[in-house]
Amino acid sequence: MPVIRFLREGRDVECFPGENLREVALRVGIELYGLKGKLGNCGGCGQCITCFVDVQGAQADALSPLTAVESQKLKRRPASWRLACQSLVQRSVVVLTRPQSGLPNGEEAWTTALRDPLPPGPLAWPEEEEAVEEAPEAGAPPSTATTDEGPSAGEGRE
Ligand code: FES
Repeated sequence: MPVIRFLREGRDVECFPGENLREVALRVGIELYGLKGKLGNCGGCGQCITCFVDVQGAQADALSPLTAVESQKLKRRPASWRLACQSLVQRSVVVLTRPQSGLPNGEEAWTTALRDPLPPGPLAWPEEEEAVEEAPEAGAPPSTATTDEGPSAGEGRE
């Protein structure tokens, strides 16, 4: 599974390929929003521009391509910023949440985080395993299970 390395929080979080970055962050309790976003955000529609993340380095293909909404909303932001709600995780990636707040020792933290390798993760969701039905034991009586489906067609009718 791809790993999202949340730089500010110092956490590595696994996710399925193609998962929405905002949803993964919220699921594991990562705070994406600054004060404005905490007071009110669009819930992931790409309209409030409060869910910024910074994705530096040569990680361009780790997230899905920029959406039309992001192209419009991020015009005056650094080129490495994305909207978490518009980004799908394709490969392992290092992200900085709330980049507008800065990060103490930011450059050093980025260098270290990008230097430590992350597992690339599979590029597809795992196959669902088929349920294997257990064979009845030898000598066991035949199943007497009944169903609660009620009378079958033609039964119980006058
Ligand atoms: S949550 Fe509003 S733009 Fe991402």
